[in-house]
Amino acid sequence: MQEHERHVLVTGGAGYIGSHAVLALQDAGWQVSVIDNLSTGNRAALPPEVAFHHGDIGNEALLAEIFAARPARAVMHFAGSIVVPESVSDPLGYYHNNTVKSRALIAAAVAAGVPHFVFSSTAAVYGEPAKVPVAEDSAKAPINPYGASKLMTEQMLADTAAAHPLNYAALRYFNVAGADPEGRSGQSTPAATHLIKVACEAVVGKREGVAIFGSDFPTPDGTGVRDYIHVADLAQAHVLALEALIAEPTRSLVMNCGYGRGYSVREVLDAADRVAGTAIARQEQPRRAGDPPALVADNSLIRATLPWTPRYEDLDTIVAHALAWERKLAAG
Ligand code: UFG
Repeated sequence: MQEHERHVLVTGGAGYIGSHAVLALQDAGWQVSVIDNLSTGNRAALPPEVAFHHGDIGNEALLAEIFAARPARAVMHFAGSIVVPESVSDPLGYYHNNTVKSRALIAAAVAAGVPHFVFSSTAAVYGEPAKVPVAEDSAKAPINPYGASKLMTEQMLADTAAAHPLNYAALRYFNVAGADPEGRSGQSTPAATHLIKVACEAVVGKREGVAIFGSDFPTPDGTGVRDYIHVADLAQAHVLALEALIAEPTRSLVMNCGYGRGYSVREVLDAADRVAGTAIARQEQPRRAGDPPALVADNSLIRATLPWTPRYEDLDTIVAHALAWERKLAAG
């Protein structure tokens, strides 16, 4: 086997999910290069042996150089902007970063003859689904530019795969949380808004408490319900998706990534209290704009397609790993 046959270029590899994918690829015997502009990522999140290109995925000339110097069997594409409210105030920034630059990356991959492409998509493509659990063939109706920018990239990939010798997997993530079980990486975002991260920051004293955004939803306890997936299980799904693309090069895959089980905000905070042995201060606040009551994956497709066996489905485990990472950050 030639060297490039086990080589993957990971975009956004210095970020939260990308860095876990790098670890999962390495653990599965892949060689990895990373391109990241370090706008939100952190180079320290990467093992030293990973070839690192400090640059932008919108730079097609740079990508051509990277692929020429070291052919890649696949691209795994994580680079992008991910803050939903920011996408509402800066839609053109989001379409530029997530859609226009993805187009440049896909074009460079096609030009270099890269045969496989794994894309970081999102449950935000469904908007406010009429029914949960939500399956892949449900209506795609994003309610913010973030979801729309990702859906447009899915469309570009579908059209590109029909015209060129490339197949792709678009993985629609539900709520990603937790950290590497061995403590090698985690979520370092300074201004985090995600519930489990925020709860862990409260435990280590980085914030006073946690606001509960809405307690009058039509859910069992009135708070929002989400499908939290451990980042290491998600990273593993990427490696398996890549292997499936290689095994069947004429088939592309669009799959939800979630456990198919929802937890309410109160249940998450209860888990954090249990794991940390504390009582996080909770403050009930009005609903956050655009938050659907419940978002849970129908994951039957990924379960039927990949030999994916999640290892960290337990909510307390997800919170415990997130908290271990938060304590590491707090300790400097
Ligand atoms: N929540 C709180 N307090 C907080 C933070 C969150 O009550 O401090 C609640 C939210 O209202 C929601 C749940 O906790 O009910 C989860 O919120 P997150 O902010 O952690 O995550 P979201 O469900 O809003 O966002 C996720 C992904 C996005 C994606 C979106 C699609 O992180 O990338 O789902 O709806 F776009």
